[in-house]
Amino acid sequence: MNETATRVYAEIDLDAVRGNVRALRERAPRAQVMAVVKADGYGHGAVPCARAALDAGAAWIGTATPQEALALRAAGIDAPLMCWLWTPGGPWREAVEAGIDVSVSALWALDEVRAAARAAGRTARIQLKADTGLGRAGCQPADWAELVGAAVAAQAEGTVRVTGLWSHFACADEPGHPSVPLQLAAFRDMLAYAEKEGVEPEVRHIANSPATLTLPESHFDLVRCGLAVYGVSPAPELGTPAQLGLRPAMTLKASVALVKAVPAGHGVSYGHHHVTAADTRLALIPAGYADGVPRHASGCGPVLVGGKVRTVAGRVAMDQFVVDLGPDDLVEAGDEAVLFGPGDGGEPTAEDWAQAADTIAYEIVTRIGGRVPRVYRNG
Ligand SMILES: Cc1ncc(COP(=O)(O)O)c(C=O)c1O
Repeated sequence: MNETATRVYAEIDLDAVRGNVRALRERAPRAQVMAVVKADGYGHGAVPCARAALDAGAAWIGTATPQEALALRAAGIDAPLMCWLWTPGGPWREAVEAGIDVSVSALWALDEVRAAARAAGRTARIQLKADTGLGRAGCQPADWAELVGAAVAAQAEGTVRVTGLWSHFACADEPGHPSVPLQLAAFRDMLAYAEKEGVEPEVRHIANSPATLTLPESHFDLVRCGLAVYGVSPAPELGTPAQLGLRPAMTLKASVALVKAVPAGHGVSYGHHHVTAADTRLALIPAGYADGVPRHASGCGPVLVGGKVRTVAGRVAMDQFVVDLGPDDLVEAGDEAVLFGPGDGGEPTAEDWAQAADTIAYEIVTRIGGRVPRVYRNG
């Protein structure tokens, strides 16, 4: 691809992904690492990132939806693979036939997976999910005995094997949050109950990226890491990627589309929320909210152009935004604009955009749109 001719593109450094997985393995030396590649690898590309993570020693791959997991199998990824976001009537049989571990939070899901296993003539690999306090997916403690009992019975009939017991944190990204020890205690109780009833899981897991990085007591047999695999810090309070031993894998670049002189008092972009203070030059950056540039960062998003970090002038539109260069700048059409990257070339980071748009860095990288080409480095 001729990158200078490309409107906007995301460079993905697969060496960074590999280095991040190695760093996470060092943080959790007694656990296996699951690389979570849902939402197209948090915007980085699920298949290349899964391959890079496996190269670096990740033992498992995780996705939210069964469709995401099946797409990885279709791409030839045959590592242990788990998916957790199911709805009634989902592709249970395809998942069972593909040897994908499926999460079960409720009796309806156990019934559907048992039927699929019978139809496929195979034993389904299921992981029982406990709601230890997140209040989202997972089985409530009050319903756990019934779910575990039904799963043990299904195991005895040969339709399922309970391969995992697992849960998810609500506030692991807030150091010292009182819910964290409460969730760990609830998880231990729910594990102990299931094991007393005869469940012998291959893996017990609750830790996401922030817990992997900060809470060794949460590591159990497996840590499920998403954002950290891509080298982004889960929360500013936890430190920068460099402080956490991580390197951001995505750099979002655009090619300046137009530079022009305008007089003082000229309105810029929809709504004229920016008006030029003096005679100046404007640079048009051809990336907008359809590409994942947050409209909430209108008037404040940072971008490196012509060796300086500038601020989005006025509103971010669907396909483009403007920066006000000042009168003397030598920026020209075709010059590179870097919206975010690792930060060591002076460019802003995904965390900087998250702050500007009053959101989290997870959303910044994950929402980079489907029409933005991904260019892989160090494959
Ligand atoms: C169930 C589950 N496990 C693990 C993860 C990975 O979380 P993180 O990106 O914080 O590592 C997610 C992501 O939200 C998730 O939903």
